[in-house]
Amino acid sequence: MTPAILKTSGSDLLRDLDLTDDELIYLLDLASDVKRTPANYANALAGKSIALLFEKPSLRTRLTFDLAIKQVGGDSVFTDGPIGGREPLKDVARNLDRWVNGIVARVFSQDTAEELARWSSAPVINALSDLYHPCQALADAQTIRERFGEMKGLKLTFIGDGNNVAHSLMITAIRLGMDFVLGCPQGYLPNPEIVAQAEGLAALSGASLLITHDVAKALEGAHAVYTDVWTSMGQERETARRKKAFHPFQVNDELFAQARPDAVFMHCLPARRGEEVTDSIMESERSVVFDQAENRLHAQKALLLMMLA
Ligand code: CP
Ligand code: NVA
Repeated sequence: MTPAILKTSGSDLLRDLDLTDDELIYLLDLASDVKRTPANYANALAGKSIALLFEKPSLRTRLTFDLAIKQVGGDSVFTDGPIGGREPLKDVARNLDRWVNGIVARVFSQDTAEELARWSSAPVINALSDLYHPCQALADAQTIRERFGEMKGLKLTFIGDGNNVAHSLMITAIRLGMDFVLGCPQGYLPNPEIVAQAEGLAALSGASLLITHDVAKALEGAHAVYTDVWTSMGQERETARRKKAFHPFQVNDELFAQARPDAVFMHCLPARRGEEVTDSIMESERSVVFDQAENRLHAQKALLLMMLA
């Protein structure tokens, strides 16, 4: 029998803050229960259909959503390419909500996800946009909790671009009481509005937020060191300039040694070995990148159950 599942208060997950603090904690508890006893949830979404719309490539997000939906008894349909290329987004949304119970969308612009949600009565989940990657941050929090137990008081250091992954991680980590540090080159700071939100959340949770260009300072006392690609999807024309700017921020043996001796290495994947991280760090026993990838499945199952069960 499936245990009673708390419903999310909002209908969409477009940005991390669409989950309340209590819902975030509940989701992490549910994700670990789903991981431990998947059979208990095998029919929880029986009869529900979910559309997966992907404007950008994906291995983990697409497959873990597809598997998660099927493993809780639902069904999925998939399209790739631009959403709203052939007809207005508001028409796409009002077609889909006649057929499906939920929409998972990976988009270039956050506005695309917002516009879909505005017109769809079926809930929309952001599967990565230029601003956020909330589903990744959920799996990352699950991974950190599994590794360290208590999250409050841990220090999570993100080295690299102030991008979508950094934004979601910053908001989520701080709400969970983790000190968050972003070490980035000049010119690659995170979105100032999201930083202001994170500062507000830090005042509530008691966690701290530091954004610095000083790598050594960023790594001091870090329990987890996280990085992501230097050039995100859609930024390919900036690759050469970014390689130059981010070079001193590569997570290699020397850089990683500046964190705590028990620190873990994290990456949302895909990783570009030799750029933002070396092969030796990816393959080291401190790397938890495949735990993060595994937890995408469990965390997204929990999210789907809370939004749609
Ligand atoms: N981490 C992540 O979202 O991976 P994909 O781009 O393969 O979905
Ligand atoms: N920041 C990367 C994350 C990929 C999962 C991108 O947006 O391409």
